[in-house]
Amino acid sequence: MSMRAKIIGTGSCLPTKIVTNDNLSTLMDTSDEWIQSRTGIRERHLVSSESETTLSMAVHAGTSALEDCSILPEELDLIIVATVSSDFITPSMACMVQKELGAINATAFDINAACSGFLFALNTADAYFQSGLYQTALIIGVETLSKIVDWTERSTCVLFGDGAGAAVVRADQNGMIANLQGSNGAGGHVLMCKGRSNNNPYITTDLSPDYLYMDGQEVFKFAVKKEAECIHELLEQANLTPDDVTWYLLHQANQRIIASIARKLKLPLDKFPSNVDHCGNTSAASIPILLDEVHRAGDLKEGDLLLLSGFGAGLTWGAALLRW
Ligand code: COA
Repeated sequence: MSMRAKIIGTGSCLPTKIVTNDNLSTLMDTSDEWIQSRTGIRERHLVSSESETTLSMAVHAGTSALEDCSILPEELDLIIVATVSSDFITPSMACMVQKELGAINATAFDINAACSGFLFALNTADAYFQSGLYQTALIIGVETLSKIVDWTERSTCVLFGDGAGAAVVRADQNGMIANLQGSNGAGGHVLMCKGRSNNNPYITTDLSPDYLYMDGQEVFKFAVKKEAECIHELLEQANLTPDDVTWYLLHQANQRIIASIARKLKLPLDKFPSNVDHCGNTSAASIPILLDEVHRAGDLKEGDLLLLSGFGAGLTWGAALLRW
């Protein structure tokens, strides 16, 4: 029987500053009513000091996941950080996390798959476990999107929050049941953020910074369609019905997206834990933060079936069905 990824510990980190919708309405022309009715978001955590960084949140979440399952940093042979808001172009966040944790035996690298990043990291660890190359991985989804959103563009900046979530995953015969992922680069223009300016002396470039751009309605349509397809495909692969899954842990972008998936599957919303009301969309961090909240609330029992699913810029999507 082949070895697959089993989640054995979780951790998360949210910045201390909480910004409510009313706080935002003092900065721009918006309202608590508009934001809550369109998205379900009430408040989000945003970094508010130089010491709160993508790296600091990743290390905090990673340490807490290791403590949760009593794994020592030296036991890790793989660290993957999923992020689009790294503090550095190089080294990778994963190498910097490795240094901070003292995880001297790990291979470390980052993945850029936006809001699907945590699923891509989990599926990558799972593929390595199946190949036999690694046995114990720390995977982290972390974002400081407050650095890259346009704070003069009310239709995007109100949606996002900062944070980190982490999981320790181990090669096991009783974890992952089925997974999938995919990309459609041709659709990528609906959600993008250009990189920094060019420093090449032979090229004259516009030095103005560029921020996150999103076509909200196109992304909404893509999300609902693709996420429903992924869930059906996974259940079919595993020969299960929607009702067999104990918890659906979906990317936390918008409560209306989550509710429409629940409706499409004809399932009660209480199978879909959610934290978008107090975290906003934390991109790659959203699913592991939610997983950690559900775990720490004592809601996960051994053998529970979890379906994790995310979608995001790229365009990208990923999903995993696994046993807790
Ligand atoms: N406060 C008040 N009004 C706002 C606003 C804000 N923060 N943001 C936009 N508006 C206004 C718009 O200007 C527009 O006004 P107009 O009709 O006078 O032009 C109006 O609200 C409606 O905007 P619209 O784009 O039709 O809203 P919507 O119902 O599509 O909701 C989103 C917008 C962004 C909430 C929704 O499209 C969405 O959630 N998309 C998916 C985003 C997502 O999941 N992204 C992450 C992917 S990982």
